[in-house]
Amino acid sequence: MLRVNVINNFFNALLFIKITFPRSRIFALYKRMSEQQFIPSDFSILTQPVSVGWQSPSNIALVKYWGKTDVQIPKNASLSFTLSACTTQTTIDFLPLSKPSSSVDFELFFEGKKNADFRPKIIDFFKRIAAYCPYLRHYQLTIRSSNSFPHSSGIASSASAMSALAMCIMELEQHQQPEITDLFFKQKASFLARLGSGSACRSIEGPLVGWGTHPRIPNSSDLYGVVLSDSVHPIFTSYRDTVLLVDRGQKEVSSTVGHNLMNGHSFSDQRFLQAQENMAGLIEVLAKGDVGGFVRIVELEALSLHAMMMTSDPSFVLMKPNTLQIIQAVRAYRKETGIPVCFTLDAGANVHLLYPDESAEKVMEWIENELALYCQNQQYIHDRVGSGAKKM
Ligand code: DP6
Repeated sequence: MLRVNVINNFFNALLFIKITFPRSRIFALYKRMSEQQFIPSDFSILTQPVSVGWQSPSNIALVKYWGKTDVQIPKNASLSFTLSACTTQTTIDFLPLSKPSSSVDFELFFEGKKNADFRPKIIDFFKRIAAYCPYLRHYQLTIRSSNSFPHSSGIASSASAMSALAMCIMELEQHQQPEITDLFFKQKASFLARLGSGSACRSIEGPLVGWGTHPRIPNSSDLYGVVLSDSVHPIFTSYRDTVLLVDRGQKEVSSTVGHNLMNGHSFSDQRFLQAQENMAGLIEVLAKGDVGGFVRIVELEALSLHAMMMTSDPSFVLMKPNTLQIIQAVRAYRKETGIPVCFTLDAGANVHLLYPDESAEKVMEWIENELALYCQNQQYIHDRVGSGAKKM
């Protein structure tokens, strides 16, 4: 806590006295200082094996992260609902080695079977976090992971998977260093998860998490997610999300390729400004309990994300005909019933329907009777806003 304050005061002083550094240099210096706090000055290796396990949820962005600089530094702030039903469960057995290996030594099992497909992503992740978790080379890791949702459902699993992995690593760190605070545990877990997949840093806690510096989010950072602790109207802390599985196929474009298409994109500067403005607007809407304002901003964000993909070079149309059918049905239903149900989209064809808990019965009946027809094999997943990762 004290350390953070010292850093903040130093940063404010730099800004206040207007040292002749350009602003970007001041931010780079601040960022480096903040990263330092996650590098352990020393660490002790356990002498006995230890097993840890965490379950972590997926999240759905209301203001979208689309565009980044290295490594997973977002071009604009984003904000998401943490979910609760779509989760990854991960356990890790850490076996101390007699001498450290040159890189992290691990075996990976996914849904009970040894898995080679995800290995490269995990190898990259361990390389990125090496400076922050130097102790990992002192163990042999057996990682076992599974999802609560079908792998081929088109639901992005990187957020839940990377956040679960990060929590497991932090639990090892806590075994080695029991004095670390709860705040540090969660902040560093979010920081590590971000290095695996940007949006994963928003899955550690809930119900609403912001990531990326923004003047309206106290203590916001590009390095990790922060819980939106400002007043949030209770209607938004029990929101429902039904994921309509329009297309269960492989992702047409990976997130990393998609984010990179924002470099040199004709509309990117404007988009980053728009996201910052939408964030300010949404924070106000969330505090007031303004469901109409919520619908407007959330749908605008979803369509802006897809507009960016449709106008990048190369361009991508990731919506399917049934995605559009659902969007039209949602708008017609809202007009007809006055129920403030709205849609949002990820970088794919599936639709997330967001609605207040108090309307759940009616909306679910409508989904079953009408919207299921637009889903592949009539499949959808009911989820709701949740509180983040849980120890298993
Ligand atoms: C459209 O977090 O998957 O879901 O940082 O490259 O792993 P990487 O990208 P990722 O991007 C998510 C993009 C999004 C919007 C969002 O979740 O904010």
